[in-house]
Amino acid sequence: MVKDQAAGLRAMHATQGIQQNSIQQANMPAQSSSEKQPIKVITVASGKGGVGKTNVSVNLGVALSRLGHRVLLMDADMGLANVDIMLGLQTDYNLSHVLDGEKTLKEVIVEGPAGLKVIPAASGVKRMAQLSPMENAGIINAFSDLSDELDVLIVDAAAGIADSVVSFCRAAQEVVVVVTDEPASITDAYALIKVLSRDYGLTRFRLLANMTRSAKHGQLLYQKLARVCDQFLDVAIDYLGTVPFDHDLRSAVQKQTPVTLASPNSDAAKAFREIARKVDAWPVQQGPTGYLQFFVEQLFQQNG
Ligand SMILES: Nc1ncnc2c1ncn2[C@@H]1O[C@H](COP(=O)(O)OP(=O)(O)O)[C@@H](O)[C@H]1O
Ligand SMILES: [Mg+2]
Repeated sequence: MVKDQAAGLRAMHATQGIQQNSIQQANMPAQSSSEKQPIKVITVASGKGGVGKTNVSVNLGVALSRLGHRVLLMDADMGLANVDIMLGLQTDYNLSHVLDGEKTLKEVIVEGPAGLKVIPAASGVKRMAQLSPMENAGIINAFSDLSDELDVLIVDAAAGIADSVVSFCRAAQEVVVVVTDEPASITDAYALIKVLSRDYGLTRFRLLANMTRSAKHGQLLYQKLARVCDQFLDVAIDYLGTVPFDHDLRSAVQKQTPVTLASPNSDAAKAFREIARKVDAWPVQQGPTGYLQFFVEQLFQQNG
């Protein structure tokens, strides 16, 4: 771990000069096209696995698509990558092929349901932090090319506090923490928020209570976690809402279709639509280039 960080730091120092250049260059054209729409980048994280991150990512993606947004979903869970399975998609390529120069970013993007676009999981996100300056500039440009075609980027992160999770959370505008009412899920969510705030200076999180029995249950779960966070950490936790435990969601997973499409009238689907409306109402950070480019630059500037 320490060794990794040291290596990352050395790499960062070595590339800093050129990195700065590539950022400045990448920023330049955008300054003259201020009409460019900023992009919302949302990372979906959790302390513990199996709490519903992928379902949240996919259904939020579909629901935001339905609200008229152009959504790209990036599967960033290298260990348990399953956005493609959840959506029944056939994927041959992913981000690692872009890094290897075999494919362009647009070539690895697959079309999901309801107009949702998907970048399949790459085994190489750790590698993304160790790219040469040339590769950095290339991939930043590749993402920048997309920024005209996107409104929202959702990142389905791995569970826990892996390096890549930290990177995706630091780089995103919004971090949605998914939690269920189990001691391990709550404790691990707290641990994640603690590390991200104490070690990386993140101050705001959005909490989504999943698999709850009622709206009230969701509220109580939120309060439980928010209270400890308030007491011990310097963070603001906003309540994004709750998705009930719903058998229709389980059947939808079996059918490899998002529940918002498989059972649009189910309680889970309604909850996802409500959450999407809230997300839709979040202000987008304004910047000369929009957030996508910043997101990618942040990923590269970090140490893994
Ligand atoms: N709201 C829910 N109601 C019922 N089951 C759910 C719900 N959310 C998730 N699940 C179940 O939990 C499993 C894991 O969900 P998933 O989205 O893959 O979690 P993660 O990505 O966090 O590992 C799903 O396959 C589904 O069976
Ligand atoms: Mg998952």
